[in-house]
Amino acid sequence: MDFQFTEEQLAVQAAAREFAQTELLPGVIERDEHQKFPAEQVKKMGELGFLGMMVDPKYGGGGMDAVSYILAMEEISKIDASASVVMSVNNSLVCWGLETFGTEEQKQKYLTKLATGEVIGAFCLSEPEAGSDATSQRTTAEDKGDYYLLNGTKNWITNGSTASVYIVMAQTDTEKKHRGINALILERDMEGFVVGKKENKLGIRGSDTHSLMFTDVKVPKENRIGEDGFGFKFAMATLAGGRIGIAAQALGIASGAYELAVKYAQERKAFGVEIAKHQAIQFKLAEMATNIEAARLLCLQAAYDKDTHQDYTKSAAMAKLFASKVAMETTVEAVQVHGGYGFVKEYHVERLMRDAKITQIYEGTSEIQKIVISRELLK
Ligand code: CAA
Ligand code: FAD
Repeated sequence: MDFQFTEEQLAVQAAAREFAQTELLPGVIERDEHQKFPAEQVKKMGELGFLGMMVDPKYGGGGMDAVSYILAMEEISKIDASASVVMSVNNSLVCWGLETFGTEEQKQKYLTKLATGEVIGAFCLSEPEAGSDATSQRTTAEDKGDYYLLNGTKNWITNGSTASVYIVMAQTDTEKKHRGINALILERDMEGFVVGKKENKLGIRGSDTHSLMFTDVKVPKENRIGEDGFGFKFAMATLAGGRIGIAAQALGIASGAYELAVKYAQERKAFGVEIAKHQAIQFKLAEMATNIEAARLLCLQAAYDKDTHQDYTKSAAMAKLFASKVAMETTVEAVQVHGGYGFVKEYHVERLMRDAKITQIYEGTSEIQKIVISRELLK
């Protein structure tokens, strides 16, 4: 067992930390306040290789391992979870899915641009009436010979209005239930494809969450990923890896809040001493640090399982379940350590607390992670 990171992994971590401090921190409060997508920052993330980190260099990616990816996700999420969700969706859901299951033509046409950040992608599974219950897809992809005719609505799509490439799950054959679902690649300018309203959210307010509507969109057959009926398995397999990214996002939100709490506790005085000298505050910091360390180990375990080609369904779900709980608890305590100052925007911890909540909801709620874990345990 080796707990040392390689030089390359440490270099990626340092680069992500530097980027977060210099490019994301300035303006993060304003972007949250005004729900402003971090467009310039995302462009720079692409230039620095953060949007296609694990993709083979022959398709324009960084060829890095999943451990490097979570180290970078943690650093970026400490400062701006609205930027890190763009990174997570593009890397784990869109690039990974295309590289693993796409045809060579699909990779040349789409992956090469997605991996460099020239364009960004979206992953479209959830619907108004199919969130956790993802097999109940109502969006239809009628087989018309050399194309599919797509009709329906997707909800809550991250990168909804900023993406150029969308992977959409849709039902082709209802009789086959989830085995009749297909995964199709859509381009933003296809006729009949409309981006709906932007959601006004509690957290990750800088991210771009929209509903999408499809009316008789003609999607060429060559844009289907995998065999006919492979779409649900594609979504599940892709989400297993996505959950490692979101676990690392939750870890970053927690460690960002913890670092702010430690700093504040050593500066703020009450009853003649720094509040860090009061045992009640020390114990809070001790609990936070212990939980964060445990969450980090679960994230690393899941990344290690992925890097060593082992089944990571359970470890990824465990990492996401635990790290998102730690993110919620740590950020609430970080606000408490800050007292009244924690309740106002300029101290950052209230935003981290709002951002933490989504990690218990998207890419499978905590309840769904428990279903995935228990099925793996009992199978
Ligand atoms: N890899 C490959 N295939 C898998 C799989 C995996 N990890 N997990 C399940 N499958 C396959 C099963 O083998 C099964 O196929 P067969 O019947 O052909 O063998 C098929 O998927 C259906 O599986 P289940 O019977 O387990 O299906 P279920 O209806 O009981 O649901 C579920 C399972 C785990 C609850 C699933 O519906 C689920 O994950 N729901 C949550 C959806 C979700 O995470 N959405 C996230 C949207 S993306 C997002 O949120 C992005 C973002 O925010 C940034
Ligand atoms: P529901 O499924 O209706 O769940 C409601 C409650 O019931 C939850 O607490 C849930 O855990 C619980 N529940 C449901 N079924 C069970 C069960 N069997 N056992 C126990 N409890 C259960 N989706 C995408 O496809 N792509 C995206 O890019 C994307 N980005 C998102 C961004 C944001 C900001 C948000 C809010 C959502 C995003 N989603 C995305 C959707 C997200 O994945 C879903 O919201 C999530 O999967 C939950 O689905 P739901 O909202 O329909 O809740």
